[in-house]
Amino acid sequence: MKKALITGITGQDGSYLAELLLSKGYEVHGLIRRSSTFNTSRIDHLYKDPHEPGARMFLHYGDLSDGARLVTLLAGIHPDEVYNLAAQSHVRVSFDEPEHTGDTTGIGSIRLLEAVRLAGIQCRFYQASSSEMFGASPPPQNEDTLFYPRSPYGAAKVYSYWVTRNYREAYGLFAVNGILFNHESPRRGETFVTRKITRSVARIKAGLEHNLYMGNLDSVRDWGYAPEYVEGMWRMLQADEPRDYVLATGVPCTVKEFLETAFDHAGLDWHDHVKFDERYLRPTEVDSLIGDASHAESALGWKAGVDATQLARIMVDADIAALECEGSAWIDTPLLPAWDKAS
Ligand code: NAP
Ligand code: GDD
Repeated sequence: MKKALITGITGQDGSYLAELLLSKGYEVHGLIRRSSTFNTSRIDHLYKDPHEPGARMFLHYGDLSDGARLVTLLAGIHPDEVYNLAAQSHVRVSFDEPEHTGDTTGIGSIRLLEAVRLAGIQCRFYQASSSEMFGASPPPQNEDTLFYPRSPYGAAKVYSYWVTRNYREAYGLFAVNGILFNHESPRRGETFVTRKITRSVARIKAGLEHNLYMGNLDSVRDWGYAPEYVEGMWRMLQADEPRDYVLATGVPCTVKEFLETAFDHAGLDWHDHVKFDERYLRPTEVDSLIGDASHAESALGWKAGVDATQLARIMVDADIAALECEGSAWIDTPLLPAWDKAS
């Protein structure tokens, strides 16, 4: 039985990756942060009491800011594959918390790579790199495109990208960067734009909200479906040779187009509900990300199947269903917590 360690297992991608690896027969270990409230809602359905026979998912407290803990964890688990998905992953928030973002999204990666080296284990290593690294470089972007990050988050990911390559070249580690374009799902964090929109559509449809406050509607993104992207991560670690790959749909979509599709799908007109609020603008914006994933298709046989239009419909349906299911408990929850209005 292969063993995998996933950092960021409580996030969107971590939860889908854990599901995928369990379905393939892996023993899955996840790094989770100690929190005063539960932060495992995305993986609770996968959890079995470790005392029960057949339990194959194990959670361990730790943090990417704690290098010594990463060493003891790796030495204890001896994973065959390590997926580094943990990060402060919100671009707008990285302007508010640049130092913390650098410490976790950037330095956190080298702490984990160094822990692999110090623990003396043989494993394959996946680094969650991002299309945000391309920033101001014009599309289409592929593995050869120049990095020009436009946020502290993007700059931290560029650092992580290069240290991953450096450990591959310096120490012969099978370490790869998956340069993933935006990917979404019903499990997407509520302050990323797609989920903010689809969650609001469900609440407007139910008569719980009337207005949705948004920032720049003109930026172009290449939005794919998260469960397909974690399959791509896994394939990168099964390849014969370590190399870096872009995963993307290749289909451009503006924030406005995503809005239109989501509202239309629920029988609503977005012009009646969407208002501008400058607090959602970023000091520097990434105007256009459109990926070219042809290397992943030819070398890994990976190709995106779901585009932004289908994705918007999947997410609206899921948010409407969740609202109906959760009834009054959900209805009492405000659209966004007051303190998170700047995201
Ligand atoms: P996400 O939902 O925001 O999940 C982030 C995960 O990282 C959570 O499990 C979070 O734990 C954990 N984390 C944050 N800081 C940590 C720390 N200091 N130590 C340990 N764990 C920490 O992100 P995602 O969308 O799944 O993305 C996964 C990875 O891919 C991230 O690195 C992201 O930057 C990158 N990426 C994402 C996309 C995308 O479109 N989704 C595209 C390209 C790259 P808590 O649950 O406790 O907060
Ligand atoms: N979050 C948010 N909230 N974004 C808004 C809003 C708003 O109210 N209004 C407009 N936008 C615009 C942003 O300015 C940006 O151009 C676009 O919507 C997408 O924003 P996000 O959904 O926050 O994602 P992102 O593209 O900045 O970053 C995501 O994708 C990266 C890959 O390219 C994150 O998942 C990153 O972690 C990931 O690396």
